Amino acid sequence: METGGPVPQEWCSEIGEVLLGSTPISHRITELGVDISRDYDGKNPVLVVVLKGSFVFAADLSRALTIPHRVEFIRARSYEGDKSTGAVQVTGLEGVDLANEHVIIVEDIVDTGLTLKALTKRLADLGAASVVTCSFLMKMTSRRQTNTPDVRYAAFDIPDKFVVGYGLDYDQRYRHLPFVGVVKK
Ligand code: IMP
Repeated sequence: METGGPVPQEWCSEIGEVLLGSTPISHRITELGVDISRDYDGKNPVLVVVLKGSFVFAADLSRALTIPHRVEFIRARSYEGDKSTGAVQVTGLEGVDLANEHVIIVEDIVDTGLTLKALTKRLADLGAASVVTCSFLMKMTSRRQTNTPDVRYAAFDIPDKFVVGYGLDYDQRYRHLPFVGVVKK
């Protein structure tokens, strides 16, 4: 198990498999920071961070950028436990001015793509100059909706498993794990 640090016993007993350790995560985010900083040089982008799952990724990504940028937080909710409800609730956009801004949606994971589709439409409707997505994880799944918006930046592709850690939860648990793992059934 490559976690990049000590793993408390209680986590070991609940996590069946570690997919991504903290060291590869940190290296990959440094790379993304270089790519985004190069692509958005002079554009002062706005990172629109989708809570709650993206809070850890966003904190690391923001600090990997070497260009000026703004950070805004919104919420999107479609899951209960480990099941998507199919309906996406977006909140927190009130008072966020994105007119003529270059928006980078910061997502934790793209699974069916429903959340991303709903978010991209809402943000484009607010008059953003451009809207792209940076997702920490891309789940390789046959459930992906055919018209899911393109994801410009993605840190890792993962297998079709329900994962936790590095911000991602199962019923609000495990967000604090510094690695990405699969909870034992
Ligand atoms: P989608 O709308 O199906 O693409 O799902 C997107 C949202 O569902 C993500 O932003 C997560 O909050 C949640 N989600 C999807 N898969 C997982 C997972 O494996 N672990 C934790 N949350 C997940």
